[in-house]
Amino acid sequence: MKILVFGDIFAKYGRKLIVDELSDIKAEYKADFVIANGENSANGKGITRKVYNELRSCGIDVITSGNHIWDNKDVYNFIQEEDRMIRPANYPSPCPGRGYEVYRVGKVRVGVVNLSGTTYLNPLDNPFDVADKIYEEIKNICDIIMLDFHAEATSEKIAMGYFVDGRFSGVYGTHTHVQTADNMVLENGTGYITDVGMCGSVDGVIGVDREFIVKKFRAQRPTGKYALAMGKRQINGAVFTFDDTTFKCTNVERIYKIYD
Ligand SMILES: [Fe+2]
Ligand SMILES: [Fe+2]
Repeated sequence: MKILVFGDIFAKYGRKLIVDELSDIKAEYKADFVIANGENSANGKGITRKVYNELRSCGIDVITSGNHIWDNKDVYNFIQEEDRMIRPANYPSPCPGRGYEVYRVGKVRVGVVNLSGTTYLNPLDNPFDVADKIYEEIKNICDIIMLDFHAEATSEKIAMGYFVDGRFSGVYGTHTHVQTADNMVLENGTGYITDVGMCGSVDGVIGVDREFIVKKFRAQRPTGKYALAMGKRQINGAVFTFDDTTFKCTNVERIYKIYD
């Protein structure tokens, strides 16, 4: 069993790239299931129903998200009814939508969980406690459990990897939009990578026009409406391979593709 995961898909530029390339990438890695982070898929901020449908119909099985999930109000029109749309599970209970779900992939039951870090991010429920709780809820109805840990601090993500090692099957980070090179299988059999990166422009600053961001850092005050970055494009992700009998992770491979 191979599960492909992709980092934050950024705006139309990233979407078009994934739509054009996904079937080739799925074939290249013989992927059985695809999870992608869509928190920036609508113009860099949030997701709309139209964008969700576009991503689903190009071959993405589940769309996870993060702190930008509420940025486009259209999300409220579909997040509750679409069980392939996941938002961080540690948002407080008044928030609509779901933080995890279990899917059938042939005979294999795959749980997908999304959590947000709380270091340099929103003060949500403790993601470690919530990971524990969800694991207890779904461990007997899943063969494989994947966790998209949407977090800023590499330390928080590494700590989460060790915390769930041997319980969750695969843990990967999103949110920074920059891929790390620490893909590995942890001591107790959990596949892990601190951050898988992003899908969209290479030439900007995490998806946004570089001049705008440089100006913003120098000014240290609001500098108006941002422009999206263009130029060279990248698809960043990872492929997790699982033993078909034990469902332990046997390998985590990084995907880092650049397109002119
Ligand atoms: Fe993001
Ligand atoms: Fe984020």
